[in-house]
Amino acid sequence: MILTAPLAGFFICGRFLQKKTVRGKEWKSMDYGLKGKNVLITGSTKGLGKAIARIMAEEGANVIVSGRNEQEAVKLAEEIRDSCQVRAAGIRADLMARGAADQLFDQAVDALGSLDILVNNAGIWPTAYVKDMEEKAFEDTIYLNLEVPYILSRRMVNHLIGQDRKGKIIQIVSQAAFHGSTTGHAHYAASKAGLVTFMVSLAREVASYGINVNGVAPGMMETPMTEAALTAKKDYYNSRIPIGRVAKPEEVAYAAVFLASNKADYLTGITIDATGGMLMR
Ligand SMILES: NC(=O)c1ccc[n+]([C@@H]2O[C@H](COP(=O)([O-])OP(=O)(O)OC[C@H]3O[C@@H](n4cnc5c(N)ncnc54)[C@H](OP(=O)(O)O)[C@@H]3O)[C@@H](O)[C@H]2O)c1
Repeated sequence: MILTAPLAGFFICGRFLQKKTVRGKEWKSMDYGLKGKNVLITGSTKGLGKAIARIMAEEGANVIVSGRNEQEAVKLAEEIRDSCQVRAAGIRADLMARGAADQLFDQAVDALGSLDILVNNAGIWPTAYVKDMEEKAFEDTIYLNLEVPYILSRRMVNHLIGQDRKGKIIQIVSQAAFHGSTTGHAHYAASKAGLVTFMVSLAREVASYGINVNGVAPGMMETPMTEAALTAKKDYYNSRIPIGRVAKPEEVAYAAVFLASNKADYLTGITIDATGGMLMR
């Protein structure tokens, strides 16, 4: 394979992409087929969700950014609109409030007209050993990390079937779903393990409608969620990762973008482990 003109290129959403020639023809980077697709990403004001929203938009998808922080959601949506020339809206949603998930779904459909892809990313990671764990913390974790993804998945499936459209649902789970927790997150591990088996069951139910349901299991990423834990014991976390370091959110986001793409049309009910080797199954 002969590549020429390696320094030529163009900017997309602020990123420089190389333009190459392969055997006399223009070489294009992998087209994920996301151009014009409408995507709702929960918890996308920061961390992994923000990285997924940005990369989806770079690939030409229209995105709904959401979180409790309306200012951040609106700001990121504006930035994405300006730099990627896609449609984007920021919607405030506190998904812990009963009814908020349905409201967010309705607002997302109003804003974009319809949805093709749902990424259930919003989650919490409270810390307590079971002997001290309060029921409220357990219930909240199960609600936000498992029940909200179920509510939104149900809405998404009915939306797609009602419109006779194919689509993709991505559940952001965790290595803790498979390993359990060693550091005081049993409620979190249980919520994510529940989400894995929910994801597999739903994948079986809706495959014949052309709806793919898959998961991404991050190990440890540098995000606001883990900031305090990493400040306290980064060496401990690094030592548990064969690759030797905690992930940047973008390194995990690409797995979600791939599963949302038309390159993953034959994949359903799977989980991509994006853990730097922490989880090897
Ligand atoms: N970080 C890791 O190492 C790691 C490892 C394994 C799995 N994960 C999973 O990856 C996903 C993203 O994690 P992250 O590290 O990016 O988390 P993060 O930095 O804490 O960001 C969480 C996102 O969810 C939103 N959110 C939190 N509570 C919400 C609520 N009640 N209603 C609506 N939105 C809410 C936050 O926005 P607002 O603050 O604006 O509400 C934020 O956008 C989660 O499902 C997490 O469990 C993370």
